[in-house]
Amino acid sequence: MREQLQQEFLAHYGKEHQYTYFSPGRVNLIGEHIDYNGGLVMPCAVTLGTYLLIAPNYDGVFRFKSINFKETAEIIVGSSNEKKQEFWFNYPTGVIEHFNNDGKVLHGLDMLYYGNIPIASGLSSSASIEVVTAFALNDLFSCGYTKLELVKLAKWVENSYIGLHSGIMDQFSVAFGEKNKALMLNCDTLEYQAVNSNLGDYLLAIINTNKPRKLAESKYNERVQECSIALTALQTELDINHLCDIDTETFNLYKHLITDEVILNRATHVVEENDRVKLAAKALSNNNLAEFGRLMYASHNSLSTLYEVSGKELDTIVNFCKPNKNVAGARMTGAGFGGCAIALVKKDAFEQFSAEVAEYYTKEVGYAPSVYSSLIGNGVGLLNEVVAVYA
Ligand code: GLA
Repeated sequence: MREQLQQEFLAHYGKEHQYTYFSPGRVNLIGEHIDYNGGLVMPCAVTLGTYLLIAPNYDGVFRFKSINFKETAEIIVGSSNEKKQEFWFNYPTGVIEHFNNDGKVLHGLDMLYYGNIPIASGLSSSASIEVVTAFALNDLFSCGYTKLELVKLAKWVENSYIGLHSGIMDQFSVAFGEKNKALMLNCDTLEYQAVNSNLGDYLLAIINTNKPRKLAESKYNERVQECSIALTALQTELDINHLCDIDTETFNLYKHLITDEVILNRATHVVEENDRVKLAAKALSNNNLAEFGRLMYASHNSLSTLYEVSGKELDTIVNFCKPNKNVAGARMTGAGFGGCAIALVKKDAFEQFSAEVAEYYTKEVGYAPSVYSSLIGNGVGLLNEVVAVYA
């Protein structure tokens, strides 16, 4: 693949690339719709991700090409760039907009992207593109931003340039991911702990619903808004900044302040899910996968019934997993409304699981899912040193 990408760069730009950067995608093991509520999440980086081949140019232009999409783009160094409707390159142009505004851009760049994360599957292909671009520009323009500053910069792109009011989990996990570790991240303080994720006889299966995600962004922003209404109601008697500042016990004493039933359901999910993450971290570090799996199912149930971000497709996968003795636990991962489910599946039964879940899902839903097994990988980085000197 590396060679194919090099050839592609050469064919398109008529010169060799100089650097290759990589940023992974992520799955969230547990702690869903928690990051924008200031609580605990437990994502990990996967080994699928985005490759960025790059070479400087002195033509005063940023050029973007992707192997995955046919649209290309060029922007003039120093010019301001509005988001274009629904194009993949909005993510890198958003990053460049930020570097431009900060006066950090030194010269143009020729860039070639390739991603093997299924698009719009909830595995954070967008955070992966943002973070790989920000990391590369920081390096090439010697800006000296810390990794955390780059994470915040990438989140700015998502929130202010793209318009999704997401939290920091995706950008953080693809930047800070560590091989065989889950990151237990406090999304308020941004302190994190790398939790050993010894899955023993099990592996992490990713099942993509392949459902087209229509309206996912507006439904996501609606959930963010609903949480903010719940918080405002609780703040009439509680001195808190986030829903996750209280545990389930305290929440039960004050939940009468939330009078709307739907808003109450949303807040109940958030508070209980945050408590589940603490239990899950304990279970994982004690290699207690049975308990971890139980918490995964409980998380899914809450996302499906209280938070209402699952749907027939994700529920079908989880319902298939529940009675299956080769599966320790399963749940939807990411924003929901389609996207992917994850499952802890016995290594030696993965092939059988993969075939059976696909058959069951196809029968119930009417089209096939995609099933992968994944390792927990590292965060963003430079893959190679200079391979050709720019003349
Ligand atoms: C999306 C967002 C994240 C997070 C998850 C849900 O992936 O980008 O910030 O809110 O949904 O947990």
